[in-house]
Amino acid sequence: MSNRRTFAIISHPDAGKTTLTEKLLLQGGAIHLAGEVKARGQARRARSDWMKIEQQRGISVTSSVMTFERRDENGDIVTFNLLDTPGHEDFSEDTYRTLTAVDSAIMVIDAAKGIEPQTRKLFEVCRLRSVPIITFVNKVDREGRPPFELLDEVADMLALDVSPQSWPIGMGGLFKGVLNFESGALALPEGESKEFLGKLDASPEIPEPFAEEAELARIAYPEFDLEAYRGGDLTPVFFGSALKNFGVVDLIEAIARYAPPPRPQPAGDEQIPPDRDEVTGFIFKVQANMDPQHRDRIAFMRMVSGTFKRGMKLTPSGLGKPLAIHSPIMFFAQDREIADTAEAGDIIGIPNHGTLRVGDTLSEKNALRFTGLPNFAPEILRRVVLRDPTKTKQLRKALDDLSEEGVIQVFYPEIGGQWIVGVVGQLQLEVLVSRLEAEYKVEAVLEAAPFDTARWLSGEEKAIDEFESFNRANLARDRDGDLVFMAKSMWDVNYQQEKNPDLAFSATKER
Ligand code: G4P
Repeated sequence: MSNRRTFAIISHPDAGKTTLTEKLLLQGGAIHLAGEVKARGQARRARSDWMKIEQQRGISVTSSVMTFERRDENGDIVTFNLLDTPGHEDFSEDTYRTLTAVDSAIMVIDAAKGIEPQTRKLFEVCRLRSVPIITFVNKVDREGRPPFELLDEVADMLALDVSPQSWPIGMGGLFKGVLNFESGALALPEGESKEFLGKLDASPEIPEPFAEEAELARIAYPEFDLEAYRGGDLTPVFFGSALKNFGVVDLIEAIARYAPPPRPQPAGDEQIPPDRDEVTGFIFKVQANMDPQHRDRIAFMRMVSGTFKRGMKLTPSGLGKPLAIHSPIMFFAQDREIADTAEAGDIIGIPNHGTLRVGDTLSEKNALRFTGLPNFAPEILRRVVLRDPTKTKQLRKALDDLSEEGVIQVFYPEIGGQWIVGVVGQLQLEVLVSRLEAEYKVEAVLEAAPFDTARWLSGEEKAIDEFESFNRANLARDRDGDLVFMAKSMWDVNYQQEKNPDLAFSATKER
C-alpha cells in the first residue's frame, strides 16, 4: 500500500484554511515557526500586481502544492501532498481541476458560521468526483454554535452521515480542550493531554454538563466506518482550533490512517491503477510567470502510476513526441527542490515554454488519455479592447497563455478582430486586467460583449459546415481552434439546438 496521501483543503474564505495549513506543516516538521506560510505568501504576493487583489480581498486565488512527511503510529513515514485550492467561488473551475488531482479532502468549517454556500458548492464538486471528506470544525476556542447543531447541519446540508471523532469541552470563554473519542485523551490548553475514557464525569477538568454532552455525542451518531467514508457516504468530524493548535494532530493522524492512498484514474473506459509499471500522469494546472525574472511556466502533473526518475522521457498527449524531463520540481513548504524520483500520488512541477497544457496526459508509451478535466462554458463574456492598438501581438500571446492557465477562456470570432474572453466569475476579469498589465505590459479594457454564453459545437462535418455558412457572425474558435457557438441568450442556444438536432451544443469541453 502506498504511503502517499494527496489531499486538498476546501473551505469558505476566512474559515481558517491558511492557519490550518500552517499547523499541518508544523506537525509535519516542514516548517519550524508558525507564520512562515504567511510570510511566504506575502513574499509571493509582492512579486506581481495581480496578487494584490488577493491581498486586498484577503482571499486566495491561486493554488499550489505543499509536500511534507510525518511518521505514523507504527513509525512508518507517510508523505502528505497538500494541494491548496482557491477559496473563492469565482474560481470554481480552477478548484474543480485541483480536485481532479487529489484522493481526498478536508472541509474546514468555522464553528460560528457553519457551512456557507461556497463550501457547499466545493463539497458538491468533491461528491461529483467521489473525493471523500474529513470535516474539521475550526475555531471552537471562540463562541460558536452548539456542536450538535453544527453536526446536524453537515448531515442535512450534505446528505451525509456524520461521525464525531472528537468533541469540544466547552466553547468560547468556557473552552477547556478537545476530547478525542478514540484515544480518550483530552487535549488541554497547556499542551498536555489526559486519559479520561470511561470516567468522564469523574474528572475535574470536564465539568458535569460537558461530560454528559460528550457522552451523548459519542453514542448518538454513527460509528466511524472506513468503507462508508471512502465511498463518500460518511464524514468523520474533528473539532479543534487551528490557531491554538487543538485537534490538528488528531486530524493529521486521521488523514494518515483513513484517507485513501492514490486511486486509479479514469482514461476513457479504463481505470489506470497506481501500481501499473508505466509512468503516467496528467497536467491539472499550469502557472505562468511564477518567477517574473524568467518567463517560466510550470505545469503541475499528478502522477497516476509508475516510478518517475529524473531525466526520464515522457510523451505529452498534446505534443505527440517525447520530452525529457530534466528538472522536475517538488514543492516543499518553503522550498522547491529538484525531484529525483516521484511516485503515484505525487505532484511534480515541470518547467516548460508552453508545450504542456492543462488536460495533457504524460506517459511513457503514449497509448492512453486521462479523461475528466473539462472546460466549463463561461458565464460572463467580455470584449477585450486595447488602449494601444500596436500591442495586438502581445495581447494574443497573453490571452493564449492565460487561457492555458485556466484564468480565462478566449474566443476568436470568425468575423472581425474583436477578441472575447469568457469567465465563470467576475473576479477572474480583475485578475485578467491586472495580469495583462503587470506581466505583459498590455493595457486593456473590457467591454460588454454582444454575447451572453458560449457552446462548443460538434457533429458531422457536413452539418457543421452548413451551420457555419449560415451563422458565421455567431461563431468563434477557442484556443485550440475548436468551433464555438456564441449565443445572445440561453433561448438562442435552445432555439439553435432544436433547429439543428444533428449538432451538439455542449456546455463543457473535455480538455
Ligand atoms: P482562510 O485561509 O480560510 O481565509 O483563513 P485564515 O487562516 O486566514 O484565518 C482567518 C482568520 O481566522 C484569521 O484571523 C485567523 O487568525 C483566524 N483563525 C483561524 N483559526 C482560528 C481558530 O482556531 N481560532 C480563532 N479564534 N481564530 C482562528 P484574522 O484576524 O483575519 O487574521 P490575523 O490578524 O490573525 O492574521
